[in-house]
Amino acid sequence: MQEPIRFLTGITPSGTPHLGNYAGMMRPAIAATRTPGVENFYFLADYHALIKCQDPERVHRSTLEIAASWLAAGLDPERVIFYRQSDIPEIPELTWLLTCVTGKGLLNRAHAYKAAQDKNAAEGRDGDDGVSAGLFMYPVLMGADILAFNAHQVPVGRDQVQHIEMARDMAASFNHLYGEHFTLPEAAIEDNVATLAGLDGRKMSKSYDNTIALFAPREQLKKLIAAIVTDSRAPGEPKQVEGSALFQMYQAFARPEETAAMRQAYAEGIAWGEAKQRLFDCIDREISPMRARYEDLLAHPDKVEAVLQRGAERARQRTRPLLQRLRQAVGLRPLTAPAPQAAAPRAQATALPQFKQYREKDGRFYFKLVAADGQLLLQSTGFDAPQSAGQAIARLQAEPGALAALAGQLQPLDAATQAAAQAALHALAAARAA
Ligand code: TRP
Repeated sequence: MQEPIRFLTGITPSGTPHLGNYAGMMRPAIAATRTPGVENFYFLADYHALIKCQDPERVHRSTLEIAASWLAAGLDPERVIFYRQSDIPEIPELTWLLTCVTGKGLLNRAHAYKAAQDKNAAEGRDGDDGVSAGLFMYPVLMGADILAFNAHQVPVGRDQVQHIEMARDMAASFNHLYGEHFTLPEAAIEDNVATLAGLDGRKMSKSYDNTIALFAPREQLKKLIAAIVTDSRAPGEPKQVEGSALFQMYQAFARPEETAAMRQAYAEGIAWGEAKQRLFDCIDREISPMRARYEDLLAHPDKVEAVLQRGAERARQRTRPLLQRLRQAVGLRPLTAPAPQAAAPRAQATALPQFKQYREKDGRFYFKLVAADGQLLLQSTGFDAPQSAGQAIARLQAEPGALAALAGQLQPLDAATQAAAQAALHALAAARAA
């Protein structure tokens, strides 16, 4: 049995989700929980919320709203470990263990902290003015979030990549000092997530105040859609789909044949009012069953709480034994307890997947990765020289996360094989490190 590949992502409970969050992040993340061979950890990062928000009622309310939104949108808590960070006491405990192996200089370089410093400097204040130690320490808390589950992949936007690199550094320092306890996590960068345009045509974002709340009541949804900017072309005049916020939003919710029909309608000069009506119908069709579930959950917070408690219990089945081992490893153990064994090498899969290199009749050089049971996991395209094939193999061995970057040199894979290949690369890397 191959170890499943673990994906972990945190959602900071601040604000109310909007259609852009739904189409760009929630919907794909929920779909990803159906990938076989993958284990998903999604959590509400409420300790993180305290860094920015010190209004207790807002933190509390927002946690309910965000949890209810994910559940209403179709997150199945059986398919993912869905929990609230502050229900896992091992996370702050691990934060301290990591704090003690993290250079202060590393944290000095964190973007969020540097940005706060630069802003102060530009405004003539002391660099640390208004900067809490929480903001400074935030990357360590995030490292603990990830390492507490030994996650392999962390789906994040570009702005968070530095934090994942820091988590790797922390994991590597800890492993170096105390034995191989941590998997080095990788950022799964979400570059091609669909971003929706907002009411004014710019990217839909809280900071532009151009959003449509995901669960706005029907009437309000209708009004907001009516407020989406369009050009001044009259009914009957052909309209352009390029750059049309309305069309783009339609496309994010419509079936492909509906999108094609809308494209045609644009060319034939559909009136903006009619196009907006179709957009409303299309969004409402998808959202309205969710909205009903959302309203029910908000009216019954006990249902949401029960889901989170169950998630916390499942999560702690992972974190309790890990922290137990880590406490031993660093020397925190009963005075009567013997010294722990050096960290056991990772359970060695008896039969590991193998890379095979070969030359085809076309004279080019190829490689493939084959599982112990013979399943083909990766198949390269042709290389001119064996060295180039070898280089690609070496890169995959050293850096399992390079799989995405090397996609151009590999035959396309379906999602299940992709996940199996990724898990196989991690298993190989772990076996080499042991
Ligand atoms: N800091 C992340 C954000 O602002 C949220 C987050 C907290 C997170 N802990 C995490 C994301 C761990 C991934 C992994 O978006």
